[in-house]
Amino acid sequence: MDRVTIFDTTLRDGEQSPGASMTAGEKLRMAHQLDALGVDVIEAGFPISSPEDFASVRRIASEVRRPVIAGLARVEPGDIDRAAEALKVAERARLHVFLATSDIHLRHKLRISREECLERVVAGVQRARAHVDDVEFSAEDATRTDLPFLCAVMQAAIAAGATTINIPDTVGYTHPAEYRRIIATLRATVPGIDDVVVSVHCHDDLGLAVANSLAGVEAGARQVECTINGIGERAGNAALEEVVMALRVRADGYPFETGVRTPELYRTSQLLSYLTGIQPQPNKAIVGKNAFAHEAGIHQDGVIKERSTYEIMTPAMVGVPESQLVLGKHSGRNALARRYRELGYELSIEETGRVYKLFKMLADQKKAIFDEDLIAILQHGTMEDAPRVHRLRGLEVRCGEKRSRAIVRLTVGDGRECEANGEGDGPLAAAFAAVDAMIEFRTELETLEVHSATPGRDAVGEVSLRLKVNGTTFTGRGASTDIVDAAVRAYLVALDKASHARELEAQHLEAASYLWGV
Ligand code: KIV
Ligand code: ZN
Repeated sequence: MDRVTIFDTTLRDGEQSPGASMTAGEKLRMAHQLDALGVDVIEAGFPISSPEDFASVRRIASEVRRPVIAGLARVEPGDIDRAAEALKVAERARLHVFLATSDIHLRHKLRISREECLERVVAGVQRARAHVDDVEFSAEDATRTDLPFLCAVMQAAIAAGATTINIPDTVGYTHPAEYRRIIATLRATVPGIDDVVVSVHCHDDLGLAVANSLAGVEAGARQVECTINGIGERAGNAALEEVVMALRVRADGYPFETGVRTPELYRTSQLLSYLTGIQPQPNKAIVGKNAFAHEAGIHQDGVIKERSTYEIMTPAMVGVPESQLVLGKHSGRNALARRYRELGYELSIEETGRVYKLFKMLADQKKAIFDEDLIAILQHGTMEDAPRVHRLRGLEVRCGEKRSRAIVRLTVGDGRECEANGEGDGPLAAAFAAVDAMIEFRTELETLEVHSATPGRDAVGEVSLRLKVNGTTFTGRGASTDIVDAAVRAYLVALDKASHARELEAQHLEAASYLWGV
């Protein structure tokens, strides 16, 4: 089987994504994970662009030894020498030099003729070859370049010593049929092309980056440049996880192997989101939150009976912990009974029928149903009816210093007044710590989101959070013009639900008709 080289540019092109910048330490951590993932080439940065980028490329080159480490440079002598310096310590180094070749770029950006472009390409590639044996040349904006001229540029680059030639769709303009034709024409007409690796590099402005990359592979490209989660300039680059899984799942049409250990994909995606704070959209293929979640009843039923009915790959193949069955208004009886079983309840057929009716009623009002709701439904109610146990009576916060401090006053149960101090990294952490000092539960904040409900400075802030209380997750929502106040109210709502669940549990155990498992 032919092999496709996976060239990861998360740390270079990906990092150009708005808001995705990482510190040198974070990039090193990511590079180690990319190594664990099994990518062949890591493009670590653009060393001339800043002293930090230089240092980061050098550090990755010295510490990450298995993959090829690439550094980007324009075809300028200063760029090339700087990149070579950063890569000197690498076990296997690649210099990646580039110059734009389309008339639009030559005329308006570079203000040079095609002849001068050719000369610069040759000089740049030769200079790079004087430093290392592994040299990649990229023709920026290749897909909008006059095709005969692109062929001439690539011929010159190969003659000057390039070992990989890259055909970037810099502005995400091409489509699969056109890209396939460009790569096929290059392969059919450029002398010496069979001795080098042809590479594809696609941007996602029309949402075609992965499809275009695969079309390039069909036409003979054997390196794909891509990024984790598809991050990158504007709409991003081809997503590595999508390219790799398309090759894996559809090996019947793409008989190629890669060195990627697919069970590391999810972990790598999560690490990147953690480091950059940018989450992939929930419906993102392979690594999105919903990528393996089945909500429609028919789908859930199918997956329970036989996974392959609605799953073309298993979550385990890409390292996603487990297929999630989200309960919502489209969920069927089987999925509901299964969730109860997982929570420790073995329901009879009659009981399932009764609970299912209540469940449907609740699902009409609420988008997602949580375990706490299921427990309450068993007792003919919903968690939204949880009686108020914890009431906020006063809140003072002081922040702006190293540690924030808060004083919270509560009324608990039928009138007990209490007050506590808390400290934390920020006003919310301090206020939650103060609440925790007054309750018996073990808590762990899982997520917290703040939304502005109305425009303007005096907007009402809505806080929604998920709080793990003694091991079970409860949701809470609060609204106020003061977001600390809103967050504390949301926290107390989650605690009220936990108290209610404990109450229900006690009643339930008394009735002793079911096995309590959470
Ligand atoms: O998109 C592009 O053209 C690039 C090159 C520098 C390879 O990122
Ligand atoms: Zn790019």
